[in-house]
Amino acid sequence: MPVNIKTPAEIDSMRRGGKILGEILLALASETRPGISTLDLEQKAQELYKKYSVAPSFKGYHGYPAILCTSVNNEVVHAIPDKKILNPGDILSIDAGVFFEGFHTDSAIAIIVGDQTKLEIKKFVNTCIAAMWNGIHQVKPGNRIHDISAAIEETVESAGYSIIPDLTGHGIGRSLHEEPFVPNFTAHDQGPVLQPGMTIAIEPIISMGSPNIETLDDGWTIVTKDNSLAIQHEHTVLVTETGVEILTLRPGEQTF
Ligand code: MF3
Ligand code: CO
Repeated sequence: MPVNIKTPAEIDSMRRGGKILGEILLALASETRPGISTLDLEQKAQELYKKYSVAPSFKGYHGYPAILCTSVNNEVVHAIPDKKILNPGDILSIDAGVFFEGFHTDSAIAIIVGDQTKLEIKKFVNTCIAAMWNGIHQVKPGNRIHDISAAIEETVESAGYSIIPDLTGHGIGRSLHEEPFVPNFTAHDQGPVLQPGMTIAIEPIISMGSPNIETLDDGWTIVTKDNSLAIQHEHTVLVTETGVEILTLRPGEQTF
């Protein structure tokens, strides 16, 4: 399967869907506080998707049962919202996708629950966010997927954390997952050259301990094998003629 280059009209649909996704994730992040459950966030998401008249990308995807993935602490990705209450200092990734005018956008926000936490945990979460931005800054025509992967890998490994190699970023468009895959580590294969009109989801997924993961009996929730903390942060971006446009940027978000 070749990499899909999007037309200006297709890009515009993704731009508008991505903007809505950014607004939805910002609203969900501002609802997040100790004492609520991830199911409360799912209910809020239901209202927001209705308000913006957009469809969720994940619900029904291979039978996934919810709008959001809400992965807490040792949960890496794809945790289904439930009644478990969030505690101060928990780390949470809220991952969501919007399907709008035939196109998907995908984004995740890494959050520390409550105002305070150990410096050690702040550093961990900020490393994941920084890794995503360092990857995004490599997006321009002529660079390769490898340049994104290398920037993410260097950021995560120099801080002493592990990249979870089984989980990667991806092309995105009419399908939630398209070519090219965007690994968070470098390999012999440097991947395709970036070209204007490519749309990709860049998503570092890292752990504080071992990179080994397992899937729980619900068939979805992926956790670290050693129960160490894990976190994910993600944006959908467009390769432009001159560099990059972040399609899922949230209102007021700094681009670093
Ligand atoms: N954002 C997730 C990814 O890129 C998609 C999750 S789909 C779900 O892998 F069905 F697992 F929720
Ligand atoms: Co994704």
